Amino acid sequence: MVLENVRKAYGHATGSVEALKGIDLSIERGELIAIVGQSGSGKSTLMNVLGLLARPTAGRYRFDGEDVADLDADRRAALRNRSIGFVFQSFHLLPQMVAIENVALPLYYRQTPDAEAGTLARQALDKVGLEARVHHKPGELSGGQQQRVAIARAIVTRPQVILADEPTGALDSETGEEILSLFLELNRDDGITTIMVTHNPEVAARCERCLVLRDGMLLSDTRSFDKHISLA
Ligand SMILES: Nc1ncnc2c1ncn2[C@@H]1O[C@H](COP(=O)(O)OP(=O)(O)OP(=O)(O)O)[C@@H](O)[C@H]1O
Ligand SMILES: [Mg+2]
Repeated sequence: MVLENVRKAYGHATGSVEALKGIDLSIERGELIAIVGQSGSGKSTLMNVLGLLARPTAGRYRFDGEDVADLDADRRAALRNRSIGFVFQSFHLLPQMVAIENVALPLYYRQTPDAEAGTLARQALDKVGLEARVHHKPGELSGGQQQRVAIARAIVTRPQVILADEPTGALDSETGEEILSLFLELNRDDGITTIMVTHNPEVAARCERCLVLRDGMLLSDTRSFDKHISLA
C-alpha cells in the first residue's frame, strides 16, 4: 500500500475540517504496524482511507499496485471484500445472528454457496478458539469472545490486510492481551498485513513499526527496537 500526499477533508456547514494533511506512507506485505496519536489526530480517518471506506480528497493511493484513490463506491466495496478485513473497538456484530452467521456474512456478499460458507466460517471460528460458541449470539458472549467472532469475520475471506481500530479498547487488560496475541499470531503465521490503532503503549511496543499521527500529519514513522525484548 502506498499513499502519496493523501489529504482528507470533511465538509461542515461552517467550513471544512482537514483530518489528513498530506500523508506519505508505504506499507509492505506482511508488516505489523501500530498507529498512535491523540484523539482527533486522524487515526480512524487514515484507517478508513487505507481500508477503502473513505476516499481521499486529494493525493494518490495504490493498493496492490492498483490506483484506488478515485475508484467508485462499488469497485471499492468489491476490492474491500476481496482483500481487507476490519475489526472495531465495539465489535460491530449483528445481535440477532449467531456467531457462525456473523462470521459468514462477508461470504454471502461474494455469493459463496451456503455449505462452503458454513465450512469456512467454522474454520475461522476454530482459528480464533471459539469452536464451542458457534451457535451463540453476541449477547451470550463475553467481550473478548465477541471480539474473537469479529476477528473470525475479518479473516474468513483470507484477506491480505487486517485493519483494527482500537481492537482492545473495550476489553480488560488480560483479555486485551489475548486478543493482541491473536493478531500477532495471524500476522506471523498467515502473513496477514496487520495495522492496529491503539492508545496502549504496550500494544504499540509489540508491533514492528509505529506510526505517530499529530493533527493530521505523520509525526514519526519508526521501527520499535525493543520488539525482541518485549517478545522474549
Ligand atoms: N465524518 C466526519 N465528519 C466530520 N468531521 C470528522 C468526521 N470524522 C472525523 N472528523 C474529524 O476529523 C478529525 C480526525 O478524526 P479521527 O476520527 O480520524 O481521529 P482519531 O485520531 O481516530 O480520534 P480518536 O482517538 O478519538 O478515535 C477530527 O477533528 C474529527 O472531528
Ligand atoms: Mg478513532
